[in-house]
Amino acid sequence: MSPKAVELDFCLQPGWMNVACARVEHHLGELLTQNAGSCEVLNKAMAYSVLGGGKRLRALLVYATGLALGLPLKQLDASAASIELMHAYSLVHDDLPAMDNDSLRRGKPTTHVVYGEAMAILVGDALQSLAFQVLLHQTEVNPTTALVQAQLLCKASGAKGMVAGQALDCLNVGKALSLDELTHMHARKTGDMIAASVQMPVQIALQSELHHKLGAVLPCFDSYGQVLGVAYQLVDDVLDVESSTDALGKTAGKDALNNKPTVVSMMGLDNAKDWIVKLHRQAIAACEGMAPFEATGLVELANKIILRES
Ligand code: IPE
Ligand code: IPE
Ligand code: MG
Ligand code: MG
Ligand code: MG
Repeated sequence: MSPKAVELDFCLQPGWMNVACARVEHHLGELLTQNAGSCEVLNKAMAYSVLGGGKRLRALLVYATGLALGLPLKQLDASAASIELMHAYSLVHDDLPAMDNDSLRRGKPTTHVVYGEAMAILVGDALQSLAFQVLLHQTEVNPTTALVQAQLLCKASGAKGMVAGQALDCLNVGKALSLDELTHMHARKTGDMIAASVQMPVQIALQSELHHKLGAVLPCFDSYGQVLGVAYQLVDDVLDVESSTDALGKTAGKDALNNKPTVVSMMGLDNAKDWIVKLHRQAIAACEGMAPFEATGLVELANKIILRES
C-alpha cells in the first residue's frame, strides 16, 4: 500500500487514536527539547506540564479532521502540537491557587505544587509563546496558512475565547446563571479551543486545491467543533460529580467545593445528560453533512467524548 493510502486509512484502523496520541507526544517532546531555553528549571517544569498525560483530545481532533479532508499527517503535526501546548498552559493556570486551586492534574501533583506558583505562571507564559512559534515556524504548510492558523489560535485562546471564559468562570463563582450565560461561558472557556482544533486543519484544506470542494460542507465542520466543544465542558461538569479522583486524575467534586456554577448545579444530572445527548446527536448530524468527506474519525471522537469516564 502506498504511504498516502496508509494515511487515508489511518482513521479506519483500530487503535488509530493510540497511534495519533503517540505521534503528538513524540512531536511535543522534540519541540520542547529543540526550543529549550536558558533556564533549566523552567525547561523541566514545561516538560512536566506537557508530557506524559492527558487524553490529547484536541490533537486527535486535528488529525481526524485533517484525515477526513485527505491531508497528509505531516501537515497536521504542528497544529496538533500547538493546540496541545496552548491547552497545557490553560490547565497549569487553571490549577493555580488564585483560580481553581487544584493539587492534582493528569494523575500527578500540579505544576505549582512541584515547581511553585511563580514558575507555574511562567510555564504558562512560555507554553503560550511556544504554541504560536510552532505554528509560525512550520514548513509543511504555506506561510499564509500558518499565519491564518495563528490568527485562529489567537482568537480561540485569548480575550475573545478561552481566557474570556476563564475570566467569566472566576467572576461567576457563587452565582446562579441563565442557560444562555452558562452556554456562553462554556463555549468560551472550552468550546473555542475545541472548535479551533477542527478549524486549523480545515484552513490547510482551504488554502489548497481542495478549497473548491469545501464550500458546502464548511458549516458542518464549524458546527461539529462548536457543538462538541460545549458538550465537552458539560461532560467535564458531570464527571466532576459522578467520577472519582482516581479515574479522573484530578480532584473530583471540586466544582461544588469551589462553588462554581456548572450544568449540574444549574439543572441537575438528568437534565444535564439529556442536553449532552442532544448535542451529541447534533455533532453526528454535522459529520453526516460532511459527505463526500469521510468523517469516520470525527464520529468516533464524538462518541468517545460523550461516553468518556475520565
Ligand atoms: C480539561 O481538559 C479541562 C477542560 C477544558 C474540560 P481535558 O479533559 O481535555 O484534559 P486533558 O488534556 O485530557 O488532561
Ligand atoms: C477549565 O475548566 C477549562 C480551561 C480553560 C482550562 P475546569 O476548571 O472545569 O477544568 P478542570 O476540571 O480543572 O480540568
Ligand atoms: Mg476552572
Ligand atoms: Mg479547574
Ligand atoms: Mg472541570
